[in-house]
Formats: sequence, structure tokens, C-alpha cells
Amino acid sequence: MNKKHYYIKTFGCQMNVYDSERIANILQTLGYSPASTPKAADLIIFNTCHIREKAAEKVFSDLGRAYAVKQERAEEGLDTIIGVMGCVVQAEDEQISVRAPFVDFATGPLTYHRLPEILAKIGRKKGKTIIDTEFPAESKFDFLPENHSSGGCSYLAIQEGCNNFCTYCVVPYTRGVEYSRPVKDVINEAKRLIDGGTLEINLLGQNVNSYHGEDASGKEQNLAYLLRELAKIDGLKRIRYTTSYPADVDDELIACHRDLKQIMPYLHLPVQSGSDKILKAMNRRHNSADYLRVVEKLQTANPELRMSSDFIVGFPGEEDSDFQATLDIVNHVKFIQAFSFKYSRRAGTPAALMKNQVEEKIKKERLDILQDLLFSYQLKFNKESVGKIMPVLFDMKGRHAGQLIGRTPYMQNLHAELGKEYMNKIVNIKVTEATTNSLSGVMEG
Ligand code: 5AD
Ligand code: SF4
Repeated sequence: MNKKHYYIKTFGCQMNVYDSERIANILQTLGYSPASTPKAADLIIFNTCHIREKAAEKVFSDLGRAYAVKQERAEEGLDTIIGVMGCVVQAEDEQISVRAPFVDFATGPLTYHRLPEILAKIGRKKGKTIIDTEFPAESKFDFLPENHSSGGCSYLAIQEGCNNFCTYCVVPYTRGVEYSRPVKDVINEAKRLIDGGTLEINLLGQNVNSYHGEDASGKEQNLAYLLRELAKIDGLKRIRYTTSYPADVDDELIACHRDLKQIMPYLHLPVQSGSDKILKAMNRRHNSADYLRVVEKLQTANPELRMSSDFIVGFPGEEDSDFQATLDIVNHVKFIQAFSFKYSRRAGTPAALMKNQVEEKIKKERLDILQDLLFSYQLKFNKESVGKIMPVLFDMKGRHAGQLIGRTPYMQNLHAELGKEYMNKIVNIKVTEATTNSLSGVMEG
């Protein structure tokens, strides 16, 4: 019998990348192997993102293309299952049956552990979309096959969901309320990843620093405790965690940046806006002074630490002076990387109903100005890296033969001419060139 193949396209955040890896784990236990194109796949899955309108709309155009592939394959006598997973399903399940009725199944981000059951049902329920958008009582993590490492850097989800309800954000509605995995489960998963060759673990959660998983005695422990436990594991060279919420950065966590050499000197801490009026309207639990205080404490704990952030421009009610406050905070913190977005109105969130929406043209102007400023700091930092020797973890092949791509401690992408024996290794590299988005360098010594 021919082996079945799957193709997964992932949209959105790192949590979706992690989920897609876990979906691949499930499919492998069912006898599937990866296909390099949708045309070669018996099962095509889109793991979707609902955070902004653009991300959500992309799925529907991709689904149209997948349907064409399904029809081409049918002419060759081949069956194709099309599935949609992730946050678009949780938020727009009805839209999927209306706009893409050929989809065989759709599951939310909290129920993909039921994939074996769903696939078995498809045989029996031909022609009807199976939809599972329950917020289940069980945790999917307890039902997933063991996660093994496939490279030098691995993601490890420790927390999911969010109770913050920022007024622009769909996450609390798509990923549900906060859930933290027990300490033991995280440590065991980390050990398996390290045994498989992982040197760097990036702990993931929508609000990762509100982690409160139970230890063996049933006591809730925080992220600082978990980081200290992880740092005891032999072979784990680098730890990152993302995404953090500024108001939940506590002194114990800050002390980890002082004490644990495995924690990389780079932290993604979204501020969203520099204006206190807008931060309040966003329902963030920090103002700009609180944010700056946290950054200062972190950089006192580890003077090498550099910051990255997310920004939204054109939130309802944002005036020129509010936007200026955002530019001011950028000039103050000098973020070395950042993601910035135009505010996108999401149905069901409080901000979508706010009266004082900002015109598209102004949003675009502000985004251009902000990005120019952010890129200037990014380029400056990258240029300052030239001449320095940095430990780089290589985990990707470059575009040309004999080239590898890796990451510096500061999450800069770095290209180097290196043989594949250096893949998934940390190598000391002297940085020779820098652009806004990447560095190049040569092996030192
Ligand atoms: N519009 C624009 N950006 C958004 N984000 C979240 N929701 C929206 C929205 N409605 C951004 C925030 C968040 C990042 C993941 O996406 O900056 O930190
Ligand atoms: Fe969304 Fe705010 Fe939660 Fe981040 S903290 S996931 S922006 S609600």
C-alpha cells in the first residue's frame, strides 16, 4: 500500500508553528509522512491565524487553491482531505462552511489532539464538514504523542490562552482562558528535546510569564521557578521565553536574568503604544512609566539585555500626540527588533465598536514613520555587531550550498559559509557585515 502524505501550511505566531509540529507528530503516528508540495499530499492542512484581518483572509484564498489541487488529484483518481485548524476556525467556523464548503474538517487550537478520531470519521461522513470548536475540559497536551527534537532550536509550549482581554485582541476568544502545563510535563518534554539534540528551547505561551503550573506536590509555581529548574538540565545551552506581558514581569523573573547564564540577553516584551491614554483604552495593565521601569530593572539585572516589542498604530482615538509618545518610547528603549501593525478591527472585540476609529490613510502614514524609526535602531544595533565575536546556533541551510543560517544570542539572523557538520551546533563567529535584517560572518579560530 502507498504511504499517505501530509502538507501543513502554518500562518501566524510561534505557537502555531509549535502546534503544527505537534500535528505532524500525530500524523506520523498514523502512518503519514511529509509531502513537499500540496499536489503530493493526501491531506492538506492550514493552521490559521485570526489576529488581524489580513492573516484571516489569506486562508480563504489558500483554501481556493487547495480545492483546485483536490480537483486535479481527483482527475488522477486520488482522494484529498482538506483540513483547517487554528484560530480562524475557533472564531469563524460558520464562515468556513459557507465560504469553503469543500473543507473536510475544521478544528480549533484546543482540540487538534482529536485529529485521529476526526480523520476516521471523514471516511464515514463524506461531503460534510466536521467542525470541532469546543473548549474542551481535557488538556490537549495530555493526549498528544511525545514531542521529540528535530533540530538545535525547539519550541516548547508551557502555557496557553490569555485572561488579559486587551480590547483589540481576539486571543482570549480563540485560545481561551489561561492554562499552564504542570512543571513535570514541561521538564520531561525539555529533556526529550535535549536528548534529541536541542541546544536552545524557546518556551511559548500567549502570556508566558503568567505561567502558574503545578509541581509534583500540587503547589503552583511561577515562570522563575520553571526557568531555574530548566537551567539545571545538562546540555541545555540557551533558554528564551515569549510572549511576556509587562505587568506580569516580577522581581523573581528579573533575578533569573541576573543569575541564569542560559537565558539569552534578548527579551520580547510588547508595549503596544507609548501613550498612557491609548494603553488605558487598550486595557493594558501598564502605562509607559511602568514599562520603562520594568526595562530598567531587567537591564540592571543583565546589562547586556536588549529589548524587542510589538506596536499597534491607529488604535481608536490615537491622535498625533499619542503617536508621538510611541515614537518617544522607541527613542528611549532603542528596541533592537520589533513588530509593528496597523490596528485591525476584529469582530467581537470591544475596540471594534469604539466610535473614534482612525482613518486608514493616517494608520498607514504612522506605520511608515514608526517602521523607519524602528528599522534605524535595528540597523544601528546590527552595525555595532560588526567586528564582534558571537556564539551562533546554526539550524538552517542557507540559500547557497555550503552556507548555513543561525541565530546570535540577540536573535539576529546570521549567514556563514560553513559545512553541514556545523548544523545544530553553536559556533563562535566573527561578524563581518550587517544589514537591517541579517548579519554575515566567518568562523573564528
Ligand atoms: N490589530 C493589530 N494588531 C494586533 N495585534 C493583536 N491584535 C491586533 C489587532 N486587532 C498585535 C499586537 C500583538 C501582536 C501579536 O499582534 O501587537 O502583540
Ligand atoms: Fe492578546 Fe493582550 Fe492577551 Fe497579548 S496580552 S494575547 S495582546 S489579550
